[in-house]
Amino acid sequence: RCVAPVSAAVSRVAGPVPEDPAIVSFPVHRPRRLRRSPAVRRLVAQTRLHPADLVLPVFVREGIAEPVPISSMPGVVQHTLDSLVAEAERAVAAGLGGLMVFGVPEAKDGRGSGADDPGGILNVALTRLAEAVGDRIVVMADLCLDEFTDHGHCGVLDHSGAVDNDATLERYAAMALAQAAAGAEVLGLSGMMDGQVGHVRAALDAAGFTDTLILAYAAKYTSGLYGPFREAVQSSLVGDRATYQQDPTNATEAIREIELDVAEGADIIMVKPGQPHLDIIAAAAEISPVPVAAYQISGEYSQIVAAADNGWIDRERVATESLIHLRRAGAQIILSYFALELAERW
Ligand code: PBG
Repeated sequence: RCVAPVSAAVSRVAGPVPEDPAIVSFPVHRPRRLRRSPAVRRLVAQTRLHPADLVLPVFVREGIAEPVPISSMPGVVQHTLDSLVAEAERAVAAGLGGLMVFGVPEAKDGRGSGADDPGGILNVALTRLAEAVGDRIVVMADLCLDEFTDHGHCGVLDHSGAVDNDATLERYAAMALAQAAAGAEVLGLSGMMDGQVGHVRAALDAAGFTDTLILAYAAKYTSGLYGPFREAVQSSLVGDRATYQQDPTNATEAIREIELDVAEGADIIMVKPGQPHLDIIAAAAEISPVPVAAYQISGEYSQIVAAADNGWIDRERVATESLIHLRRAGAQIILSYFALELAERW
């Protein structure tokens, strides 16, 4: 981060106070000079967006012949394998840094069998992408069970119906090996189980996948803003994820989660959702020895799109602002459904 604390900035600009009353009646300091023209504003801009810092989340659905629009996320679709590869080529041409791939399987079950099946839709898609574009863009895989379980939770359930942390770790390890074998370069651990980073790292290393990166959704908060995503992956979740995702009332706990994930071997840590948690992104950027990412989630996207579609706000302008805010708070990498459309205009 390149922003000095405000107190330091103030002490630097406070110069001698002129004594002549004729002078003091007008401002001595004129910060507006730095805003006077587009060229000056561009010169002094402290925060810039670059396509290489952006990651586009994409959905691939099993058993469809044409892309299927997601009604709660206008402009976003569930891809076929072929349309996914075409979208990936567009992302490469626009210079995006990465793709985060989510799979939507035809059949779901209690243990999320499709997740670690090499023939499962996500793993097949990862192989297609790795072959088509893997040398030109970072292919990332969502590593979580919720798209694959019939109950919609991010883990397997115990006999009482609660999410079983340690049994879930075994499923994540199997999923990690399948995704790494399929060709994913980065695994996005988004399930918020305790110990998931260490467990998956150990499994990857034991199988020889020592070069596979882990992007840890370290501080992932429970939120109503995930709503549109649940439609995107046709989730059957009843209830919420409050026993594993963080409570929005807490900040300190995010630091603990980040420190644990870094200690367990995370290569990149992420804060999610983005704009509601700018304080957490700033804190993460302050303490993290590894790159910090932020995820502008489905509901953040859809709020902007809905207002823009009503003519109430300007889509491109507000989308750009929203990413600037994440970047200024300290996010080096940004996941956003706007990534491709914005990068194609820059
Ligand atoms: C878990 C996962 C979710 C998202 C990313 N990874 C769903 C959830 O936590 O409920 C949400 C992304 C979004 O809302 O855009 N597989």
